[in-house]
Amino acid sequence: MDNGTEQLQGGVAVITGAGSGIGAALARHAAELGMKTVLADIDSDRIRAVAAEIQSAGGHALPVYTDVSDPQALDALADTVYESFGQVTLLVNNAGIETLGVTWEIPATSWDKTLAININGVIHGVRAFAPRMIAAGHSAFIANTCSVGALGTMPVQTPYILSKHAVLAFSECLYLEMQLKQAPIHVSAIMPGPVATRIFADSATTADASSHHHRQVMQHMLASQGISATEAARLILPRIAAGEFWISTHPQMTREMAQQRAEHLAGLSVPQLPPELLASLVPEPPAG
Ligand SMILES: NC(=O)c1ccc[n+]([C@@H]2O[C@H](COP(=O)([O-])OP(=O)(O)OC[C@H]3O[C@@H](n4cnc5c(N)ncnc54)[C@H](O)[C@@H]3O)[C@@H](O)[C@H]2O)c1
Repeated sequence: MDNGTEQLQGGVAVITGAGSGIGAALARHAAELGMKTVLADIDSDRIRAVAAEIQSAGGHALPVYTDVSDPQALDALADTVYESFGQVTLLVNNAGIETLGVTWEIPATSWDKTLAININGVIHGVRAFAPRMIAAGHSAFIANTCSVGALGTMPVQTPYILSKHAVLAFSECLYLEMQLKQAPIHVSAIMPGPVATRIFADSATTADASSHHHRQVMQHMLASQGISATEAARLILPRIAAGEFWISTHPQMTREMAQQRAEHLAGLSVPQLPPELLASLVPEPPAG
C-alpha cells in the first residue's frame, strides 16, 4: 500500500470522466488502494472496459453511465452510489473537454456543451454529493480537476481556459464554505500540467487554420512531453489524502504560472502572449 493514503483506503471513490485518461488512471489507482470505485462517464464502453480491468485485478468497480452536463444525472448518480455502497469517501469531479476555435466562430451549441460539462458538471457534482458527505459527519474529500490553464490565458482555447478559471474559483469558494460550516470535507483543486491523454484528439475544433494548427501542436506536446495518466494519478491521490488544496502534477510549472499571473494582475498589464507562443499559434503557409 502507498504511504499517506490511509485516509482513502477501503473507502468509496466516485470519479467522473473515468473512462479515459486521468479519470481512468485515478480509478485504477484508487482500486489498487482498496477503494470501491464508481466510474461515471458519458462513454459506456470506456467505463465498462476500465471497470472490467479493475475487476480482473481483484478490485471493486461500478460503471455508471452519467452525462455530467445534466444536473439530474448527477443526482441519480449520487442516489445509485449511496444505495449501492453507502458513504462516499472521495468525489473527483474530473470530466472535462477541450473545444478549440476563435470565440466568435464556435457554435452556440458547442459553447453551451463545453461550459455545461466543464463548469456545471463540477458544480452539480458537489450539489448532488456534498449534503450526504457532510451529514455523514466524518472526514471525506472532494477534488475538482482544474488545470494549469486556470492560471493563464490562451487564444483559441477560450471555452476551456475560462471554464478552468471558473472551476478554480468555485473550488476556492467551496473550500471556504466547508470551513464556514465546519464541515469535515477536504476540498482540493487538481492542477494537471501536460498529461498524455486523448483530450485534444477528441476536441471539437472550428475550421480555421490556426485552431487546427493549435490542436496539432497541443496533441504533439501532450504525446511528447506529457507524463502518463498513471503517473499523474499516483501523484494526485496521496496529495488528496493529505488534505492539500493545491494539487499539481507539475509543481514547478504551476508555481511559475501562478507567479506570472500574480505579476500580470499586480501590474494591471494588458493581455500578452510570449512571442514564441504567439508564433506557435500561426500555421506555416502552404508550400509553393
Ligand atoms: N490531459 C491534460 O494534459 C490535462 C491538463 C490539465 C487538465 N486536464 C483535465 O483533466 C480532466 C480529464 O482530462 P483527460 O486529459 O483525462 O481527458 P480524456 O479526454 O482522456 O478523458 C475525459 C473523459 O471525460 C468523459 N466525458 C466527456 N464528456 C462527458 C460528459 N458529458 N459526462 C461524463 N463524462 C464525460 C470522456 O468520455 C472521457 O472519458 C479534464 O477536466 C481536463 O480538463 C487535463
